[in-house]
Amino acid sequence: MAAKRILLIIGGGIAAYKSIELVRLLRKAGMTVRCVLTRAGEQFVTPLTLAALSENKVYTDLFDLKDEVEMGHIQLSREADLVVVAPATADLLAKMAGGHASDLATTLLLATDKPVLAAPAMNVRMWLHAATQRNVATLRGDGVTVMEPDEGEMACGEYGPGRLPEPEAIKAAIDEQLAASRAGSRVSTSLDTNEVLQSQPDFAPANHRPLHGRRILITAGPTHEPIDPVRYIANRSSGKQGFAIAAAAAEAGAEVLLIAGPVPLPTPPGVIRIDVETAREMAAEVAAGLPVDAAIMVAAVADWRAAETQGQKIKKDGSGFVPPLALAENPDILASVAQSPDRPPLLVGFAAETNDVIAHAQAKLARKGCDWIVANDVSADPMGGASNRVHIVTPAGVDSWDRLPKDAVARKLMEKIADELDARAPPESTHAAD
Ligand code: CTP
Repeated sequence: MAAKRILLIIGGGIAAYKSIELVRLLRKAGMTVRCVLTRAGEQFVTPLTLAALSENKVYTDLFDLKDEVEMGHIQLSREADLVVVAPATADLLAKMAGGHASDLATTLLLATDKPVLAAPAMNVRMWLHAATQRNVATLRGDGVTVMEPDEGEMACGEYGPGRLPEPEAIKAAIDEQLAASRAGSRVSTSLDTNEVLQSQPDFAPANHRPLHGRRILITAGPTHEPIDPVRYIANRSSGKQGFAIAAAAAEAGAEVLLIAGPVPLPTPPGVIRIDVETAREMAAEVAAGLPVDAAIMVAAVADWRAAETQGQKIKKDGSGFVPPLALAENPDILASVAQSPDRPPLLVGFAAETNDVIAHAQAKLARKGCDWIVANDVSADPMGGASNRVHIVTPAGVDSWDRLPKDAVARKLMEKIADELDARAPPESTHAAD
């Protein structure tokens, strides 16, 4: 297979230095890389460094193209298999969404006929600003893959989403895009033209709906266990992986019931969502949602709740007395679904572990009575990041995946679940007639 060609557009920002590592990873994987530096990008990395690492000429401005003789911008934008923007600044995303062609980078992005992947990096407020979110939604609607930025402490000292995803995660997203484009070109014969195919977000083949006729239940997010009207016990689950799985299941054609703890995430298209607060509410909604073909329990359910919930806010009485907090154990939703007469044919649990990941997951598989455990190695990365390194632990063995963006984990998991359900029972024999 011919070496894959990446056109890498590097925007300005403190994260631009990570593009150097990205170029190194892409080269190591045998890809050809051409770099384009925006004027702002040039403030952070030098063309010389990028030229040395990419072993290719680096383009820095529209007028650099030797008057279109050596290689015009149209050709430069189209000879690549994938255009990657990393870091994609708020300004660059806004220009892309608005169709600007004010410098070399934006001209290339407007002229290209190839898939575009953007890895954002900016201050948390800028990322959360309605204008940026609107631009990202526009770009996604246009078929651009915009990665979720990482969450964490930023160079500016603030905390939240906005950090450039790690180079390994961007590389994984690039691999996925290239694979998706390849898969797309295989099925393109069933569609009118490549244009039709490329108008699909993420280039998913329009007719690839392997979960059509299946009903899937997913739990996601944390639970909140009240102590009094203003306080609760909770955990750091962001809900992102569960929501990505719900989105991927719906994209794959399933009827999806998402039972979500309190998280400020939008409901993915085509998903039926029920919001709950506590573990006991979640358990009741899960029981009411059965039977299903597969249940995927991604929620980080609080193991304990306050034994008694106070009807009024607990007050300090000034004496230094610290009120005791007695806890009661919450129902184990996954284990009770496994015991239920309505146990789904495929029951999947999740486990975030920091150490002895596989051993803990194998023990959990047996203890909970489910079919698979998706073990999530959170030793290097706390909850809330944009990517996951998972191992699918089953009684038959362990399938370990590379670190992938959460939406890629979700899609891959859906493919595996579709294969498993098909192997157990063809689609017609399940709830297709419900
Ligand atoms: N789970 C559940 N109900 C609970 C606790 C966990 O349904 N009360 C599910 C989770 O959704 C997940 C799986 O069980 O799919 C494993 O969750 P985890 O918190 O890792 O399991 P625990 O039994 O709480 O084990 P640990 O001691 O490692 O926290």
